[in-house]
Amino acid sequence: MDTEKMLKCLMLVVLFFFPSCTSIDTLTANQSIKDGQSLMSKEKNFALGFFSPGNSSHRFLGIWFVKVREQTAVWIANRNDPINGSSGVLSINKYGNLILYDSYNRPVWSTDVSVQGTTSSVAHLLDSGNLVLVQESNNKLLWQSFDYPTDTLLPSMKLGLNRRTGLDRYLTSSKSQEDPGVGDYSYKLNPTGSPQFFLYNGSTPYYCSWPWPWRSLAATTPADYSINFVYNQDEISYFYILDDPTIITRVVLENSGSLRQFAWNDGDNQWKERYVEPKYRCDTYGLCGAYSKCNPDNVNKFECSCLPGYEPKSPRDWYLRNGSGGCVRKQLGLSMCGNGEGFAKVAQLKPPDASKAAWIDLSMSSTECEKACLRNCSCTAYIRRDIDGKRTGCLAYYGKLMGSLEYTNEGLDLYVRVDATELAKYKEKSNGFLDKNRKLVSVLLPVAVTMLLVSFLAYMWLRKKRKTKVKRKLPHQSFNVTTTKGSLDGDELKYSSRHPDLVVFDLSSMVAATENFSLGNKLGQGGFGSVFKGQLSNGQEIAVKRLSKCSLQGIEEFKNEVMLIAKLQHRNLVKVLGCCIQGEEKMLIYEYMQNRSLDFFIFDHTRRSSLNWVQRFEIILGIARGILYLHQDSRLRIIHRDLKTSNVLLDAEMNPKISDFGMARMFKGDQIQDRTTRVVGTYGYMSPEYAVFGRFSRKSDVFSFGVVVLEIITGKKNNVSYQDHPSLTLIGRVWELWKEDRALEIVDPSVKESYVSDEVLRCIHIALLCVEEDAGDRPTTMAVLLMLSSEATALPSPKQPAFIFGRPLNESDSVVGQPSYSVNQVTITSFQAR
Ligand SMILES: *[C@@H]1O[C@H](CO)[C@@H](O)[C@H](O)[C@H]1NC(C)=O
Ligand SMILES: *[C@@H]1O[C@H](CO)[C@@H](O)[C@H](O)[C@H]1NC(C)=O
Ligand SMILES: *[C@@H]1O[C@H](CO)[C@@H](O)[C@H](O)[C@H]1NC(C)=O
Ligand SMILES: *[C@@H]1O[C@H](CO)[C@@H](O)[C@H](O)[C@H]1NC(C)=O
Ligand SMILES: *[C@@H]1O[C@H](CO)[C@@H](O)[C@H](O)[C@H]1NC(C)=O
Ligand SMILES: *[C@@H]1O[C@H](CO)[C@@H](O)[C@H](O)[C@H]1NC(C)=O
Repeated sequence: MDTEKMLKCLMLVVLFFFPSCTSIDTLTANQSIKDGQSLMSKEKNFALGFFSPGNSSHRFLGIWFVKVREQTAVWIANRNDPINGSSGVLSINKYGNLILYDSYNRPVWSTDVSVQGTTSSVAHLLDSGNLVLVQESNNKLLWQSFDYPTDTLLPSMKLGLNRRTGLDRYLTSSKSQEDPGVGDYSYKLNPTGSPQFFLYNGSTPYYCSWPWPWRSLAATTPADYSINFVYNQDEISYFYILDDPTIITRVVLENSGSLRQFAWNDGDNQWKERYVEPKYRCDTYGLCGAYSKCNPDNVNKFECSCLPGYEPKSPRDWYLRNGSGGCVRKQLGLSMCGNGEGFAKVAQLKPPDASKAAWIDLSMSSTECEKACLRNCSCTAYIRRDIDGKRTGCLAYYGKLMGSLEYTNEGLDLYVRVDATELAKYKEKSNGFLDKNRKLVSVLLPVAVTMLLVSFLAYMWLRKKRKTKVKRKLPHQSFNVTTTKGSLDGDELKYSSRHPDLVVFDLSSMVAATENFSLGNKLGQGGFGSVFKGQLSNGQEIAVKRLSKCSLQGIEEFKNEVMLIAKLQHRNLVKVLGCCIQGEEKMLIYEYMQNRSLDFFIFDHTRRSSLNWVQRFEIILGIARGILYLHQDSRLRIIHRDLKTSNVLLDAEMNPKISDFGMARMFKGDQIQDRTTRVVGTYGYMSPEYAVFGRFSRKSDVFSFGVVVLEIITGKKNNVSYQDHPSLTLIGRVWELWKEDRALEIVDPSVKESYVSDEVLRCIHIALLCVEEDAGDRPTTMAVLLMLSSEATALPSPKQPAFIFGRPLNESDSVVGQPSYSVNQVTITSFQAR
């Protein structure tokens, strides 16, 4: 019996007629509510009674939150008909209607429903804030305040259209704080096309929401809500429910025209804003006119741009940053009706206004949607979307495309109908070319598969070969940057999905990190660009290399290159954390090295003494290991081509880390063999065959290494001439002294105390082998490392090195095909070798 009762109650609750199982205060035909009295809901959430908003002296009958200190009315009966004085009365008249009388006993407001049969009806205030009038005998709902919203939407309250009765529920703003009368703004569902809410200023729309169901409305609201959209023959309506019913919340259309959601924080007794619409300037309906899109992130630039195939209607207005005229089809555009037209994808948009000339089908396949749009020449665009995992929705537009907004994370792809010329342009740009062109796929697919297979086999073979040759495997192979949090903007997101390991930072975060590339943060300047110190918002220190603009690469190519470089991981290589590409700017982001670079120490009179011989020897070994990794162990087998003392950075423990590796690749000089027309390198460190003939090999790096070793030992620069022997280079001086067995004389005096003479001599010996004239005579990197690390290895006698003689270089001589020496340390990134 108990269960039966409960079930009955439950059913009644569901149907909203639940007087028989709740004991809420009830307004019956014999009672009335006078000013000062109120009708309470059962849980005492809401009260109905008389109140005066703000400083107003007028009285209104309304419903407000009981638990909210700040009086907040959620519904008002007589918003346009205030009562003078405090003698208003609410009662149920003999026809069963709720009726409000003023001080002269004149009715100012009534529910005005026709009640059949017996006339006794009662009114309840429900805990949802809904005032209901029901027929006492059968609990039939006669009237409810939720059907007549004022400016506030409460949870479970519906907005939208009842198609059977024609009842349209929408919000209207108040006139002011004092006057709750109907103001200028309304928030109303537009049931045509794909239903959408609009904010109207009078009758002019100034904002439109996302069309249903092209985005779950929940996307605009926090996750603790469930949003319901009813779309059937009887009804098109929307309502929201809170997961936690104890939270007090409301959505209000303010008299400023904004729709805001608030939640009551009883901790500090304040309403907290949860969201607001419209949010961006771009949200303004028609800001960019038709056939355009608006980018809310373009703070400084003009936010409007035309969709593919369209151009500004009035270029002059556009120039003056007035986008309201919108865009029109390009004047020279071809016919778009059976003339080879197609669709260009515009990614990540809030869809255009779909309330007018749009058509929806919620059970189409994605190809059908495109076909359907293509078939009808008046179809201008379409959007498709997975609805619930099974069905695909198709939204086709048959007219103006108004109000597209770029939404980087949650947007949908809009496919805009474009003519054959535009389509060709688009396909050229797009990477999705192969997907589109089936014929080409059928030709290219077997070729691609074969190539893939061949390269896979080749790779496996090489791997096997290498494994048998060099057993040692490198410790840190995996690359995973989790410490840096670069924010990814829309475009970048696209790329990084292809490069999961690469962190792409946006320009603004780099600007912030380096304080707008301030001179104070500049660490140095090289041929490939300037280096700045920076700090990410998470506190991590970084070095940002802002590449000079002469790189010839395209963005994608550049990213691929950075990706490959970033995968090179060795304790003696500087770690690449990511890159940043925006417009002309290309940057590489490295880990920051506390102790800057080697040249900062060894060429400085005071700092050089902080590096003793043991440390210098460790640095030499480290550099050799780093180069060996680049030359032999890394997948790419990179020739550095610009190895020099200033490219050897030092971390906090004075471990050397080679930087700028792979730059030659990035700057398009990556042919592995002989000759190149572009020379990348720095005079003084370049091998003769490279400097003169542009011929390079790993042996050219060995040459540079030799020079670096000599510089480390002597603390002198190779490319500077010395007063006592102006005609000799450092190599020349060392060679002269070596021949006379006096080589120790040139060793940096500041390591005199700490060095082991045999070790120093051995290092000089190895360095001299490295700088030999003939590349064939120079040892390989592997041999260099073996000679350095094992004293047992016998060393051949060095032959006369290259570049013994030098002359100081004048500024005017700086474009050269001849080896020369100068104080100019800057890397030469390009010149034509003859
Ligand atoms: C109203 O009051 C009258 C007498 O005062 C009584 O006869 C009638 O039953 C009451 N009606 C209700 C619905 O209580
Ligand atoms: C009510 O009047 C007082 C004094 O005139 C004023 O300071 C206050 O801002 C007014 N409140 C509202 C809500 O207008
Ligand atoms: C209320 O009072 C104002 C003047 O204070 C008057 O203009 C208005 O007509 C009155 N309204 C009613 C319903 O009596
Ligand atoms: C509404 O229209 C009025 C008059 O045209 C204008 O002053 C006001 O700024 C508009 N409000 C909004 C929110 O657009
Ligand atoms: C913007 O251009 C439209 C015509 O395209 C014009 O009617 C309007 O007045 C212009 N608005 C401003 C602010 O210049
Ligand atoms: C194209 O679509 C529009 C809008 O749905 C419709 O009125 C028109 O008849 C269609 N035309 C053709 C040729 O199907």
